[in-house]
Amino acid sequence: MSRLSPIASLLPDSLRQHLNALYARYRPGSTHRLVRRLCAGQGIEIGPGKHPYGDRGRTEYLDKHTDNKDGTRSPDLVAEASAIPRADASYDYLIASHVLEHCQNTLKTLHEWLRVLRPGGTLFLILPHGDRTFDRHRAKTTLAHHIEDLAKLTDEPDRSHIEEIELGWSANENFALEKREYERQWGAAMWDWDFRFANDVIHFHVWTQDEIVEVVRYLGMKLVYVAETMPDRPDSFIVVARKAL
Ligand SMILES: C[S@@+](CC[C@H](N)C(=O)[O-])C[C@H]1O[C@@H](n2cnc3c(N)ncnc32)[C@H](O)[C@@H]1O
Repeated sequence: MSRLSPIASLLPDSLRQHLNALYARYRPGSTHRLVRRLCAGQGIEIGPGKHPYGDRGRTEYLDKHTDNKDGTRSPDLVAEASAIPRADASYDYLIASHVLEHCQNTLKTLHEWLRVLRPGGTLFLILPHGDRTFDRHRAKTTLAHHIEDLAKLTDEPDRSHIEEIELGWSANENFALEKREYERQWGAAMWDWDFRFANDVIHFHVWTQDEIVEVVRYLGMKLVYVAETMPDRPDSFIVVARKAL
């Protein structure tokens, strides 16, 4: 369904799809209702940015960044996603939308998220779909890669993905358009890798719901809900799982 004016039919397909995706992106809707249905009690949202999913009254917001385009203006906790300054089992649910791909050590981060969840607590993940973003020509990240990362990565920036990321982007048929859009949002600094590392604007890993289901099963979690496409955010998918009792 297009929300663009009739003149949109004159635009090239790729541009029209891109604009439709932008319009659809933050319309509040079914995902917020799903979050309310599956996330009872008190929780935390990691990196809510400008578009939180967790109800403000019963959700703590955590972000490492408060002053860049994507950051959260007044988070309750200013902290790294993989080092949450809270006791074990503090929360009934943890929501993270478009955050895990920015964390270089996926399993370290997920272990931390599980630590702060109570047994039976809910992990609600919204993630960019590897076939429907600017990462669509990059290989999907395997569970074996995350296991290797956990064993070898330190807290130093993991630069090992840079070449593969740039190769993937350069294969995009409408890369010039995507590049302009990111420059509009972030400025030319976007193409400086040091800036990107400092601001955590790197997609280290690429996945679909299938790879994430494998990861949460590996962590012993029970799957609750999987959606390949979000109706109100077409570039994304959802995986919801519960921590073992
Ligand atoms: C792409 S934005 C997503 C914003 C919003 N959740 C959404 O769905 O549009 C990523 C968010 O996670 C935060 N973030 C990224 N990496 C982080 C990290 N390692 N630790 C804490 N917050 C991080 C960013 O500052 C930002 O608020």
